Amino acid sequence: MFMFVFSLFIFGSIRLLAKTCPIDTLEGPDEKCYGFFPYGFFHNESEHLCTDFYGGNLASIHNEETNEFIKNNSVFFFDSDDFWIGGKIGENGEGWLWSDKSSFDYRNFYKGRRPSSKSYFGLAFNKNTGKWHGIKNETVLPYVCTI
Ligand SMILES: *[C@@H]1O[C@H](CO)[C@@H](O)[C@H](O)[C@H]1NC(C)=O
Ligand SMILES: *[C@@H]1O[C@H](CO)[C@@H](O)[C@H](O)[C@H]1NC(C)=O
Ligand SMILES: *[C@@H]1O[C@H](CO)[C@@H](O)[C@H](O)[C@H]1NC(C)=O
Repeated sequence: MFMFVFSLFIFGSIRLLAKTCPIDTLEGPDEKCYGFFPYGFFHNESEHLCTDFYGGNLASIHNEETNEFIKNNSVFFFDSDDFWIGGKIGENGEGWLWSDKSSFDYRNFYKGRRPSSKSYFGLAFNKNTGKWHGIKNETVLPYVCTI
C-alpha cells in the first residue's frame, strides 16, 4: 500500500513538472507554453530573444484554438495592434515557414493580404482580428514566444 501511494506521488509530480511553464509564460490549449513580450524588436531579434532566454522560438500556430488563445491574451499584454509570430517568407522562395521548423499546416491570413512580392516578410498577428499578415521584417513589434 505504501509503495502504491508513493509511486502515485512520484508519477503525479512528474506530470506536474512536465506541465509547468517557465515564469512569465502561460500554458496554451496545446499544452505548450506561451510568452507575451511587450518590447519592440525586428522579427529576427525577437526570434533570437525567444531562443536565448527560453530555448524556444517565436510562436508557431497550428489550429484555431491556439490562435484564439493567443488573440485573447495579447489584448492584455500589448498596446500595439500587431505583434510578431514565427512565420517568415523563405528567402529561397519556399513561401511561408515557421521559425521552429514545424509544418505550416494552418493558415489564418487576412483575405487578400498575402504578400506577393519577393521582399522579406515576417508574419504579424493582429490582436483585434486574430488574423495574420506579412509585413517587412525590419518593423519593430512586440512578440510571442512558444516554449
Ligand atoms: C537582425 O537584422 C538586422 C538588420 O539586417 C541586423 O543588423 C541584426 O544584426 C540582426 N540581428 C540578429 C539577432 O540576427
Ligand atoms: C477566448 O475568449 C473568448 C471570449 O471571451 C472565449 O469564449 C474563448 O473560450 C476563449 N478561447 C480561448 C482558447 O482562450
Ligand atoms: C530582412 O530581410 C532582408 C532580405 O532577406 C535581410 O537582408 C535583412 O537582414 C532582414 N532584416 C531583418 C531585421 O531580419
